[in-house]
Amino acid sequence: MDKNMSEHTLVHGGQLTEIALRYNIPLEKWLDLSTGIAPTSYPVGLIPAMCWQRLPQHSDALLKAAQDYYQTPNLLATAGSQSIIQALPQLCISQCFADARVWLPAVGYQEHRKAWQNAHYQTLDYQDTPDIRLIKQGDIVLVINPNNPSGKLHTRQQLTELLLTISAKKGLLIIDEAFMDATPEHTMTPLLACNRDSSDNNINQDALIILRSVGKFFGLAGIRLGFVVAHDYWLKPIADVLGPWSVSGPAQYVGRQALTDRCWQQEQTTVLNRLSSALEGVLVQVFTRPIHGTTLFKTVITAQAPAIFEALCKQGIYIRLCDEKNALRFGIPNEQGLKQLESVLLSQPIQRLL
Ligand SMILES: Cc1ncc(COP(=O)(O)O)c(C=O)c1O
Repeated sequence: MDKNMSEHTLVHGGQLTEIALRYNIPLEKWLDLSTGIAPTSYPVGLIPAMCWQRLPQHSDALLKAAQDYYQTPNLLATAGSQSIIQALPQLCISQCFADARVWLPAVGYQEHRKAWQNAHYQTLDYQDTPDIRLIKQGDIVLVINPNNPSGKLHTRQQLTELLLTISAKKGLLIIDEAFMDATPEHTMTPLLACNRDSSDNNINQDALIILRSVGKFFGLAGIRLGFVVAHDYWLKPIADVLGPWSVSGPAQYVGRQALTDRCWQQEQTTVLNRLSSALEGVLVQVFTRPIHGTTLFKTVITAQAPAIFEALCKQGIYIRLCDEKNALRFGIPNEQGLKQLESVLLSQPIQRLL
């Protein structure tokens, strides 16, 4: 893959209209497993008219809901994590990181790479895990935890050690936790709960920024809501850049409900665990190789990835051909979708490719 992508438009999942046209199959006939967005979403009920009519004011209710959910008072609502991914390089320039080198996972959500390269940062790749020995004074390190699409999950202990090194070298660790919600025991957000000056664990609290998304686990990618978790050193300039109305009234309203509804969240975790195990069961049977991923997607590494992607599209099943063209990522289907996927994967055109 061309690693210099500052001028490229990236391919993402979710581009069903374009794919439907390309394969000449009507939109409604597709099984769309091209994203890591949950197949069941938080039930959005009626939204009060004033949420649509008024300019969105700062919402204490949303802030409180998010503070409880992410277990830290230090956060800011954003229009999805993507808006922060795009804004961070410029912010880092203004916050004394203009000359930093940026470590990125070789495989991962490529919007990060694009944003840093657009801002002319020097980017360096690491494979699964950043090598502490290679981190220099003032480096920025990005970890996507768990990684999309590889599924690689770093433990809290590993990330704390990494953060200690980065903090000692006056660098910055950015953790993208867009897919963390179903495994909250691994989140690093509580580390940013303490008062910035009272942290007694040798960690400079300004050395950590965490990004969260309400799009994936809650199945609400369309409302564009996410959070940036950090201390004021970062939150203040980020708030300045975002301006007064970056999160819409309807997103604030629905987000508050979703983040406080513990019953629904538990049920969603159970459903996702069940559906993702069922998908894994089918994939392991078809591909007879390790299946990677999270409860929101499964990834199979195979040299036949482009051919299988093509064959599935011809049968009306849209998955994600990973950027390196050596892996396929499957979003989680519901029971009916899984049956359809299984029967197509076991059919002659696909079996011939395996
Ligand atoms: C790892 C990762 N981070 C962040 C995002 C952006 O998500 P959103 O802007 O919907 O929060 C994505 C989208 O696919 C992603 O895969």
